[in-house]
Amino acid sequence: MNRRLGVLISGRGSNLKAIIDAIEQKRLDASIAIVIANRADAPGLDHARKAGIETLVISHKGFTTRDEYDRALVGALKERNVALVCLAGFMRLLSPVFIDAFPHRILNIHPSLLPKYPGLHPQQQALDDGASVSGATVHFVNKELDAGPVVMQQAVPVQRGDTADSLAARILIVEHQLYPRAIQQVLNGLSAS
Ligand code: GRF
Repeated sequence: MNRRLGVLISGRGSNLKAIIDAIEQKRLDASIAIVIANRADAPGLDHARKAGIETLVISHKGFTTRDEYDRALVGALKERNVALVCLAGFMRLLSPVFIDAFPHRILNIHPSLLPKYPGLHPQQQALDDGASVSGATVHFVNKELDAGPVVMQQAVPVQRGDTADSLAARILIVEHQLYPRAIQQVLNGLSAS
């Protein structure tokens, strides 16, 4: 069965690296067909290059509308025949053009226990809320922001004296375990269906 992933990033790419490592260590039975970044300077691209994975930069700056940009993304992913699209710190909202092209085939990871703290700065939101626990969520992407069906979640305690950065760092460690496991679970479900 098709276990080809397309991974979309905008920045550091530590979750991409975690997926690459999980594949190399055979904890995740998949392959990465392409890594696409919307910025040429996304540091995460280096993780893909070092692993010999094809990379592509599609900058939104070259497009006048979001739909046009999303059609370019969809085209690149369809050309590589990906089974699943994994957003890994991709900082662009996706339009219905994109969502409808991959129904139930787009995953995202978010550093909170959704539906709590969607959108930007979820770690700061958790601190501002006085939460004693936050965490990480892998979910399917639908047309609402950070609101699609949850695949997997893991809690991370908020500690006294936590800053947004210290909480983010602790959640990130959990993200790196969670995302490959969630991808594996979704791929298993696809192969069973
Ligand atoms: C992660 O915290 C992820 O949950 C969020 O953006 C961050 C991306 O980090 N969506 P990285 O680029 O994977 O290191």
